[in-house]
Amino acid sequence: MIVVYMTLTGQSRRFVNKLPFESYELSTAFPSKEMTTDFVVVAPTYDYEMTSIIDDFIDYKNNGHFFKGVAGSGNINFADLFVFTARDIAKKYNVPIIAEFEFSGTETDVEKFIKGVESIGNTSFTE
Ligand SMILES: Cc1cc2nc3c(=O)[nH]c(=O)nc-3n(C[C@H](O)[C@H](O)[C@H](O)COP(=O)(O)O)c2cc1C
Repeated sequence: MIVVYMTLTGQSRRFVNKLPFESYELSTAFPSKEMTTDFVVVAPTYDYEMTSIIDDFIDYKNNGHFFKGVAGSGNINFADLFVFTARDIAKKYNVPIIAEFEFSGTETDVEKFIKGVESIGNTSFTE
């Protein structure tokens, strides 16, 4: 399982760096890569214009076939809008939400994410 993510202020990257999975960071410079193994997405929460490279990545070639779940990094002060980016992606692509957490996540968030990914299966740890 590969964890694909984007980040604007580094929080999602800090979360992903705590995980025992291979990862791939999306950026406007490298928005597309053809996936041939299962992946999950960690999405920060911003207006759609800021995060649409995630959708572009999932829509690229056959990537949608390998897309298995999404987690959201956000700020609870946004109340109803907490992690709406991940929730919108989950709905749009019909995949489960693996975890919702603030900023770079706590140990508990990391554990929840790992368990969620394991329940999806086909887990390959990098260590
Ligand atoms: C302009 C702006 C808008 C944001 N809007 C939301 C929001 O609607 N909902 C939410 O849960 N978090 C929101 N956040 C918080 C970020 O999603 C959160 O800090 C996240 O951890 C950032 O991840 P990143 O550092 O990987 O970019 C917003 C942050 C900024 C700066």
